[in-house]
Amino acid sequence: MYPSLEGKVVVITGAASGLGKSMAERFGAEKAKVVINYFTEEQEVKGIIETIEKAGGSASAIQGDVTKEEDVKRMIAHAIKTFGSLDVMINNAGIENEVPSEELTLDDWNKVISTNLTGQFIGCREAIDYMLENKIKGSIINMSSVHQEIPWPHFVHYAASKGGVKLMTETLALEFAPYGIRVNCIAPGAIDTPINAEKFADPELKTGVIELIPMGYIGKPEEIAACAVWLASTEASYVTGMTLYADGGMTQYPGFQAGKG
Ligand code: NAI
Repeated sequence: MYPSLEGKVVVITGAASGLGKSMAERFGAEKAKVVINYFTEEQEVKGIIETIEKAGGSASAIQGDVTKEEDVKRMIAHAIKTFGSLDVMINNAGIENEVPSEELTLDDWNKVISTNLTGQFIGCREAIDYMLENKIKGSIINMSSVHQEIPWPHFVHYAASKGGVKLMTETLALEFAPYGIRVNCIAPGAIDTPINAEKFADPELKTGVIELIPMGYIGKPEEIAACAVWLASTEASYVTGMTLYADGGMTQYPGFQAGKG
């Protein structure tokens, strides 16, 4: 547990599902005040708020689309109005779809880039603007992916967006380090969330993914939430511009395991 998170105001985008939901619940367990941004999954929100409140945290939900500037501004204004501040911004919302690159439409490209990269930029900019103005030494966490590093055929738009998240994170970390604002990203490997539901429902595809993970299992959302609370806490006070890989070893060239190569 991280006592420094008690009472901190945390905004999480895409928090009604998967990693966002798990992070919201974990911050709740740390007794933080959590703003749950949801996009379409309104029916999930009540249960998440109940879980957070039962654990001793506070929560409030707001609908919004991270690709729309006015929606992201509304999310942050909601945090300030409801809980009085903003200490931690987690740009988590993301999408992917599989298409061979020669068939990828500009529409699909733009959708993924505007959600995964531009949406995260708007979240960073708005949070940093507020933190600067109010002299808050806040923490910003961007949800990247092992595909900020590992090329991914049929997901060129996704890989490009996450590569962008990496350098955006590093650049903002450098720019705002003098003000004590830390900007980091988490790069999960394969985690059991709805984004992967279709793939993991197919035993052959699931086995294929597990073969790429030296630790031999698909990660659990709570294992990513554990990274987020650490990064947001004062335990990580000297950490900025970093990517925290949480991937069971996926980025360690699994093809070379057990003396191969
Ligand atoms: P998910 O599909 O369960 O959650 C994504 C959430 O983002 C959903 O609640 C969705 O409604 C929301 N969202 C989508 N477009 C939005 C928009 N325009 N505005 C606001 N919210 C929007 O998937 P998951 O796994 O929880 O993904 C969360 C993040 O983690 C994404 O950025 C994803 O790229 C990243 N990630 C996930 C991995 C995994 O294996 N699950 C691996 C690496 C990265």
